[in-house]
Amino acid sequence: MKKIVALVLVMALALVACSAFAEGKLVGVAMPTKDLQRWNQDGENMKKELEAAGYTVDLQYAANDIATQVSQLENMIAGGCEALVIASIDGEALGTVLDQAKAAGIPVIAYDRLIMNSDAVSYYATFDNWNVGVKQGEFIVKALDLENAGDKTFNIEYITGDPGDNNINFFFDGAISVLKPYIDAGTLKTPSGQTEKATVATANWATDAAQARFENILSTYYADGTQLDAVLASNDSTALGVANALASSYTGAYPVLTGQDCDIASVKNMVAGTQSMSVFKDTRTLASKVVEMVDALMKGTEPPINDTTTYDNGTGVIPSFLCEPVACTPDMINELLIESGYYTEDQLK
Ligand code: BGC
Repeated sequence: MKKIVALVLVMALALVACSAFAEGKLVGVAMPTKDLQRWNQDGENMKKELEAAGYTVDLQYAANDIATQVSQLENMIAGGCEALVIASIDGEALGTVLDQAKAAGIPVIAYDRLIMNSDAVSYYATFDNWNVGVKQGEFIVKALDLENAGDKTFNIEYITGDPGDNNINFFFDGAISVLKPYIDAGTLKTPSGQTEKATVATANWATDAAQARFENILSTYYADGTQLDAVLASNDSTALGVANALASSYTGAYPVLTGQDCDIASVKNMVAGTQSMSVFKDTRTLASKVVEMVDALMKGTEPPINDTTTYDNGTGVIPSFLCEPVACTPDMINELLIESGYYTEDQLK
């Protein structure tokens, strides 16, 4: 008994000592928008974990407005934040405000999305974004059994996200790297002719823009009964728009439809059969890694890093930690999302 009490005391003291180090130091967390489920989760996880480690958190959402995000960052710098964690709206738009952070000696961690062309970025924490695309591409290859297609051809359309989000290059190019042999062989065809990344991009990753573009594609190229076999959608908010368009403007056999994030609406669609897969990125893991990074920077130790080659932001390669994404199909929802405690069963009803 005495031993247990002593152990508990030692553990409590260690915890106090740890958080004493953080001493309520202020950390700024800038998130892009509350509109998408994932950023709410990311923000909440970051705040909870940083506070548990003894930090004080200034958490801000910028309603997808670049000027708002810039002014939030200015306030964080002026308000005494000692580290900044930023999920940017437009990776190209923060250079000037981050120069101020650099001048003030404040380290910057790019969260999920790389901040481009700024040498103020110290570290980058994200998921393996190329691999997200690869998993989507592999799913399509398997679902359409492209390896055994022979002379058969299939119709595929594409949709990705915001052109200011560096991640789309990795999502889209990763997926295309898997699909390319079938595109080159003529097995995969795109009746709309819309295959360029810039053409298939979606401002702000908006669901209604995705829906409008696909309603147009479906009524122009598929209204004559042409079969749509697959849609490569880079994430769930765009997949949701595609599913809405399919519901309103398409009567053929339902295509394979990819996504990413395991947003609740998309998980429900997976259960209903109107989305084929999503890519699960456990935002709890990402938040924990970033808290470790912040903590190491504050203590002057080495932050965790597992990639020093992939992410060049235009000023050089940014040392990164890449978390592993996992392909999620309807049969995996229970294990991946419910048993892991990510969602309750009720949330998915
Ligand atoms: C994130 C995705 C998300 C998308 C839209 C990307 O930068 O990596 O997880 O679906 O932004 O918010």
